[in-house]
Amino acid sequence: QRVVKLAVIPGDGIGPEVVAEAEKVLDAATAGSGILFERTRFSLGAARFLETGDTLSDADLEAIKAHDAILLGAVGGVPGDPRLKDANIERGLLLKLRFELDHYVNLRPSKLYDGAPGPLAAPGDIDFVVVREGTEGPYVGNGGSIRRGTPHEVANETSVNTAYGVERVVRYAFDLAERRRKKLTLVHKTNVLVHAGGIWQRIVDAVAQEHPDVAVDYLHVDAATIFLVTNPGRFDVIVTDNLFGDILTDLAGAVTGGIGLAASGNINPDGAFPSMFEPVHGSAPDIAGQQLADPTAAILSVALLLDHLGLRDEAARVTRAVEEDVAARGDARTTTQIGDAIVARVQA
Ligand code: NAD
Ligand code: IPM
Ligand code: MN
Repeated sequence: QRVVKLAVIPGDGIGPEVVAEAEKVLDAATAGSGILFERTRFSLGAARFLETGDTLSDADLEAIKAHDAILLGAVGGVPGDPRLKDANIERGLLLKLRFELDHYVNLRPSKLYDGAPGPLAAPGDIDFVVVREGTEGPYVGNGGSIRRGTPHEVANETSVNTAYGVERVVRYAFDLAERRRKKLTLVHKTNVLVHAGGIWQRIVDAVAQEHPDVAVDYLHVDAATIFLVTNPGRFDVIVTDNLFGDILTDLAGAVTGGIGLAASGNINPDGAFPSMFEPVHGSAPDIAGQQLADPTAAILSVALLLDHLGLRDEAARVTRAVEEDVAARGDARTTTQIGDAIVARVQA
C-alpha cells in the first residue's frame, strides 16, 4: 500500500471552510485506490499567532518538510490589522514556506469552464497557465528604509533576479509549453526595469534556442493585462516574475469565473522538498464563517496535488467532477453544498 504523508494547513478565515471540502473530495477521489493519505494538521496562521505568538517555528518547518506534499487553505488576517503587524503572516509564514521549501515554480492554471460566470461578453476559449517564479523578485525582502517617519525617509524594495533562479523557472515553462500548445509568452516590464527585465529576456531567448517548435513572444505587463481581458485565448504558457505573476493571476481568476475557482501549486520540481497546493485567493475575512466561500479553488488544488503525485486518474476524476458541477450551477449554494455536490460527482 502506498502511503502519502500530507501536511494540512487549514489556516485562517475561509481557509478551514474550503479545506474541509477539499479533503472530502480527496477522500472520495482516492477511495479504493489503495493509497493512504496520512495527514498531519498544522495550526498556523494569524489566529495561531494571536493565541501563542508563533508564526512558523523551526520545529514546525522541519515537521512539514517530512511530508510528501502540503495542502493549504489560506493564511492571514484582516488586511491592516495592527495586532498582526509584528507577525507579518504573509512573509513570516506563507513566503517562508515557499522560500524554505524552494517552491520556485508557482503554477497557476486558468481555464474558463463551461457555465462559469465570467465577466467577459465573448471570452472565447481560455486555457492558459501562468508559471510564476516563486522564490525571487521583489518578494525576497531585500530592502530597507532609512530616516523612517521623517520627511527625508527613503524606502527601498529590491527585486532579486538570479541567473540560476530565472533559468530554472524558464526551463520549466518551456517544458510545459512543449506538452501544451507550444506557445510561451514572457511578461515583464523590460522597457523600464532594464536590469531585471534584461536578464529575463536574455534567458528566455537563450532557452528558446533549445525549443525551436515553441513560439515565443513578449508582452509588457501593462499590455498583458489588456489582452487578458480582450483576448485571453491568445495565451498558452505565461512565464513571469513573482510580483507580476501575483497580479496577473488574480486578474486571470476574475476573467475565468471568479477567484473562487483559481487553484495553484507551489512546486519544487526537483522533489527535494514537499510541494504545496493552495487556492490563489486569501482568507477572505469579509465572508469568513458564513459558508459563503466557493471551495472549488481548494478542490482544484487537490487535483493539482494528485497530478503532482502521479495520480493522474484520480486528478482527472476531480477535475471532471468540478467541470460538471460548474456546468450545472444554478441557485446559490453554501460552501458545504458545493463540496458535497462535487463529492457526489466524483463518486458517480
Ligand atoms: P482575498 O483573496 O482573501 O479576498 C479578495 C476578495 O475575494 C474578497 O471579497 C473575498 O470575499 C473574495 N473571495 C476570496 N476567496 C473567495 C472564495 N473562495 N469564494 C468567494 N469569494 C472569495 O484577498 P485579500 O482580502 O486581499 O486578503 C485577505 C487576507 O488573506 C490577507 O491577510 C492576505 O494577506 C491573505 N492572503 C493569503 C493568501 C494565501 O494564504 N495564499 C493569498 C492571498 C491573500
Ligand atoms: C498569493 C498571495 C500571496 C502572494 C501573499 C499573501 C503573500 O497574494 O498567494 O497570491 O503575494 O504571493
Ligand atoms: Mn495573490
